[in-house]
Amino acid sequence: MIFPEGFVWGAATASYQIEGAAKEDGRGQSIWDTFSHTPGKVAGGDTGDVACDHYHRHADDVGLMRELGLAAYRFSVAWPRMLPEGQGRVNPKGLAFYDKLVDELLNAEISPYVTLYHWDLPQALEDRGGWTSRDTAYRFAEYAQIVHERLGDRVSHWTTLNEPWVAAYLGYGNGVHAPGRRDPAAAMRAAHHLLLGHGLAARALREAGARSLMLVVNSAPVLTPAQVNDPEAAPGEADAAAAHRIHALLTRQFLDPAVHGSYPAEVLDAAARNGGLGHVQDGDLELINAPIDQIGINYYNPCVVEASPGEPADAAWPGSEGVRFAGADAPTTAMGWPIVPDGLSRLLARLSRDYPRVGLMVTENGAAFDDVVEDGRVRDRDRVAYLRGHLREVHRAIEAGADLRGYLVWSLLDNFEWAEGYRRRFGIVHVDYPTQTRTPKDSALWYRDVIGRNRL
Ligand code: FCB
Repeated sequence: MIFPEGFVWGAATASYQIEGAAKEDGRGQSIWDTFSHTPGKVAGGDTGDVACDHYHRHADDVGLMRELGLAAYRFSVAWPRMLPEGQGRVNPKGLAFYDKLVDELLNAEISPYVTLYHWDLPQALEDRGGWTSRDTAYRFAEYAQIVHERLGDRVSHWTTLNEPWVAAYLGYGNGVHAPGRRDPAAAMRAAHHLLLGHGLAARALREAGARSLMLVVNSAPVLTPAQVNDPEAAPGEADAAAAHRIHALLTRQFLDPAVHGSYPAEVLDAAARNGGLGHVQDGDLELINAPIDQIGINYYNPCVVEASPGEPADAAWPGSEGVRFAGADAPTTAMGWPIVPDGLSRLLARLSRDYPRVGLMVTENGAAFDDVVEDGRVRDRDRVAYLRGHLREVHRAIEAGADLRGYLVWSLLDNFEWAEGYRRRFGIVHVDYPTQTRTPKDSALWYRDVIGRNRL
């Protein structure tokens, strides 16, 4: 299986998950500092205080990327490192860090893919309402401009938000992520303000000359249990309606406004029943509908649902009344996530159909397994199988006509996996946290060969 010429191979990380140096060089506090330091929120009481110490080891980490032959590295900028209070005063040392990182990447002939928001909101802004406040969208656009002013001469690829669904619904809906609020109406407001922030930032970056803009969503095909192993299975009417509604809440809620300038009826209905639509102002959808070049897709597993009359809405899914989230008949990763590789090609086909004029990129895909180092080696055959299976589907989607431009594995390094802490290892490079030793796993060496040959 040969991939198209110029297909972008890379890896992804995020600031809070790898940087550490949480209190160094003037970095302000983020909602993830507050949350991880609150007892009971993160497995093992883990925090991002040190993480992979990437803040100090970035040069070596870029060296590793070069050895693997990565063409692209997707990382995020920590808003509170740049603007410790979220607005106003800029922290020159924060800027200097990303400045240096970008230069190192370019020296290694690796394209930087910068994400502006991967969940580490400045705590000072959360104290003023966080994403439930409209003001945060405007602060985000200002911050985006500041970062672009400094790095825009060397960075072409800009992503506004990573996974706004997760930021809104796990952060403000079921409280599993920072800031840990549990309020469906707040979550729906947050989702809208995240989108507004995306639109405002995208416009500002475009005006400033940004060449390539992307919105990254966590997306998945929404399947009934029978469809997991049989794409041709025809669901009953009630199950099909349940899947249709959840697809609207998960994916169309973000991509329809961004690409088409409108909310699906299912989202408007859920908002009307959860706090109302007062936060959606005239002109917002036009602002959100700023032209983007690519949709970034983070895919791990399908979403499996069935109709279940009388079922109350899940805390992370306002509007999901009458739907049961079901398990899949499939092997699972250490996260308990079902492994369904062809979910990726099914998803890519659907997105190509629904958003035909926008390019696609797989911006995250990967798996956690319980890796062990033996004689300096990590034989992670499960991860190799996972990646190979998904890359086959990537290839299949391209053959079927998807405008898919690249694939970024999650993640370069084992790192702080949010509420799961360090016990879940997603890296293709193993990190021994006490010594910060990096050991490329077998999957990294395998991936290097795939990249080198541009084929599977
Ligand atoms: C995604 C996140 C990423 C990582 C993976 C496993 O939802 O964007 O930071 O935690 O899941």
